[in-house]
Amino acid sequence: MSDRRRVLSGIQPTGAGKHLGNYLGAVRHWAAMQDEFECFYFMADLHSLTITPDPAELRQQCRKLVAELLAMGVDPAKSTLFAQSHVPEHPELAWVLSCLTGFGEASRMTQFKEKGGGNVGLFNYPVLQAADILLYQAHAVPVGEDQRQHLELTRDLGQRFNSRYGDTFTVPDPYVQKSAERIKDLQDPTAKMSTSKGGPGVLWVIEDDKQTLKKIKSAVTDTGREVVYDVDGKPGISNLLTILSVASGSSVEALVKEFDGKGYGDFKAAVAEAVLGMFAPVRARFAELIADPGYLDQVLREGAAKAGPIARETMTTVRDRIGLLAPA
Ligand code: TYM
Repeated sequence: MSDRRRVLSGIQPTGAGKHLGNYLGAVRHWAAMQDEFECFYFMADLHSLTITPDPAELRQQCRKLVAELLAMGVDPAKSTLFAQSHVPEHPELAWVLSCLTGFGEASRMTQFKEKGGGNVGLFNYPVLQAADILLYQAHAVPVGEDQRQHLELTRDLGQRFNSRYGDTFTVPDPYVQKSAERIKDLQDPTAKMSTSKGGPGVLWVIEDDKQTLKKIKSAVTDTGREVVYDVDGKPGISNLLTILSVASGSSVEALVKEFDGKGYGDFKAAVAEAVLGMFAPVRARFAELIADPGYLDQVLREGAAKAGPIARETMTTVRDRIGLLAPA
């Protein structure tokens, strides 16, 4: 076993693809962490079933996600990249943890409340997420701000199990990266950019440069002409400043100075140029990868071969601790 600290995170395959928020809030950090940590990244395909996707579409979206992750810099030579559904211990541990989760506790999860109920899978969603994390004894879980509540539940369930049955799980740090930007919708900058919302306010990592350009040019701006950072008063401009800051590597303060006295037009042109520059290599690499489904399947196969034994080891301990008989 490696003595590096272990990092784990997941991402869902459903939807038109990954967007700028997923990239800046999560996947960019995943790629950056690969040299320092022992990283496990997975496609949360079981979580995606909560929206009962069309099977043919789901299959396509899964391959697309693997190609996107590789194109965004996840390197299978450094990290373990696998599909959640290829390691059956995920739903197995989720069942065990669901028996330790209060009904009220699960009902309080905002994601479930926001979606206005739905199926039992959606209700159990955060418990499966806790299982994903605890199975691998992960120390840190790089996610965007929107996942904070699910990480808190994971910690609670890990601690609850440990205090009831003895030390079994590493309780992960409440680790939402400071720089895990909350990227907003370009047309509705008080709401987060999200796959389910879609529309002209969402910048897909994989789309035509022309579409990206058009969406940035027509992004909602605020009254006034000044480029200043003020999330409440100027949510549109503040969101674009965050995006430009991350894409260009300049601080928000430096950008505000740079665009002092210049209009929104110049500013948006700079945002578009930076985003297109950032995505150019990702888009080129994606086109190569998606043309080679055999390679994408191979990455997942090798990933499951590395993830599986760790998950099985944890589950063997769990089964024993909770009093199940070992299979003869
Ligand atoms: P998912 O697939 O919705 O999103 C993947 C990652 O992208 C981040 N993110 C954002 N960050 C900044 N701005 C935004 N607008 C934005 N939108 C999304 C999310 O925070 C996330 O990090 N439940 C998880 C998947 C999951 C998981 C796990 C994650 C399942 N099991 C175990 C970590 C560990 C989800 O729906 O992510």
